[in-house]
Amino acid sequence: MAQLNRRIFLLSGLAATAATAATPARALSASPFTLGVASGEPSTDGFVLWTRLAVAPLNGDGLGGMPNRDVEVRWEVSENESFAPLAASGTVLARPSDAHTVHVEVGGLKAGAKYFYRFISDGHESPQGTVGTAPSGLASKLTFAFASCAHYEHGFFHAYRYMAQDKPDLVLFLGDYIYEAPWRTSAGPVPNPSRKYLPRKEVTTLAEYRLRYAQHRMDPNLQAAHAAAPWLVVFDDHEVENNWAADHRGDNDPAGDFKARKTAALRAFYENMPLRAAQRPTGTAIPLYRRVSWGQLARFHMLDTRQYRWKQAAAKDCGVIRDPRRTLTGDVQEKWLLDGLAQPSARWDFLGQQVFFAQRDDDGKPATCDVSTDAWDGYPHSRDRIVQGWLDRKVRNPIVLTGDVHRHWAANIKQDYFAANAPVVGTEFVVGSITSPNDGVPGAAYLKANPHLRFVSQRRGYAHTTVTPEKLTTQYVTVSNALEPNPAKVTRSVAKTYTVADGKPGLG
Ligand SMILES: [Fe+2]
Repeated sequence: MAQLNRRIFLLSGLAATAATAATPARALSASPFTLGVASGEPSTDGFVLWTRLAVAPLNGDGLGGMPNRDVEVRWEVSENESFAPLAASGTVLARPSDAHTVHVEVGGLKAGAKYFYRFISDGHESPQGTVGTAPSGLASKLTFAFASCAHYEHGFFHAYRYMAQDKPDLVLFLGDYIYEAPWRTSAGPVPNPSRKYLPRKEVTTLAEYRLRYAQHRMDPNLQAAHAAAPWLVVFDDHEVENNWAADHRGDNDPAGDFKARKTAALRAFYENMPLRAAQRPTGTAIPLYRRVSWGQLARFHMLDTRQYRWKQAAAKDCGVIRDPRRTLTGDVQEKWLLDGLAQPSARWDFLGQQVFFAQRDDDGKPATCDVSTDAWDGYPHSRDRIVQGWLDRKVRNPIVLTGDVHRHWAANIKQDYFAANAPVVGTEFVVGSITSPNDGVPGAAYLKANPHLRFVSQRRGYAHTTVTPEKLTTQYVTVSNALEPNPAKVTRSVAKTYTVADGKPGLG
């Protein structure tokens, strides 16, 4: 009933301002706000607001049951939950060519302020979101969550719900927001039949990628996490295809035109993420790496370790792995990162990226190159150039944030991992998965063979970090059971907490 009253109020409000209401009221068959709202990319005077109109989000054509025409969407931003007075507002067109997604870049707001936002279209009102602008100067505190790897069929998004309840200032998503492939039948039945991916096949077309994002975005826990805070997102491999590298496909199954698939995947990724127009892809290219500052307290270098990398080496192929020309970032991004690190404007510099940065060697011995060739271990000289680069530039507090491996890990970064007394030169926090299962690596054995690795947890979850000028604190949060549908039966706990003191690299 409350919703009905609100809608009647809204309709009368629209009638009073008929000049802005070019779309006839109730032209759509139902509310188009089925996929929630999102924000991202905060600056000192604004952010991106996102939504997608879809009256029937699971339609097989990926078009959300929307008419084949532009639809007007009004957006409103206010410091008050009552939306009076408005701090900013406007009207944009949701276009069929963008699957009726909306990206609004809001500017002209106050630094370091909290805002509420919402959308209105066709007489329907979206859920509200909360978002903050970045502060100017040295803020006393920043909180952010980071997460990765949310395979829909592998569980329920309880971790997203708890992440939202923490009310962080920011959320970093470090890759594998969707998975291109459903649960492999060789792994047994889907853990819970109500979480079956649609369509029931590996996705390759634009319609199919759009449908997969729509299915994720219908999840109320994921909607809550997006509505709670602005996100900084990067992709990893599964937004396109397992283990892809530049123009090389990772899997040969299913067969097909990889460039066409990549074009479709990147387009659907952009459509569904709260990114700026500067990140809009052109064909198979997407300018994704970028910097976002939180005043003088923190700077986030969001990296792309997929698009410019050399193809993965074969397992244990030391000759290829140790080729000094190999790169995970590409030369242009590497220079961009090091140039950015040379600017002394942040107390804490975070590298938000996808794959394991510190060494993770099967037996802890240098001769065999028994490492993951998809991670930085497969590109050790590329890693060395970044680490030497931050040392040369006297970066005050370099912190690497990582996803990908479906387990929480914590690591001390060194220049020589085989030398027990080599100094610690940085810190890495690897976040486990929202739902994706273990990849089978023997966690405890790795800790023994790699003493710079300090912690591993197999439980699903996310990480919550508090940053002050004096120290950083990361909590590894776990949920008790990602396969349990009933939220009342799932608890949140902190499995481990680490601190890093200003000016002193390494886990404390
Ligand atoms: Fe993953």
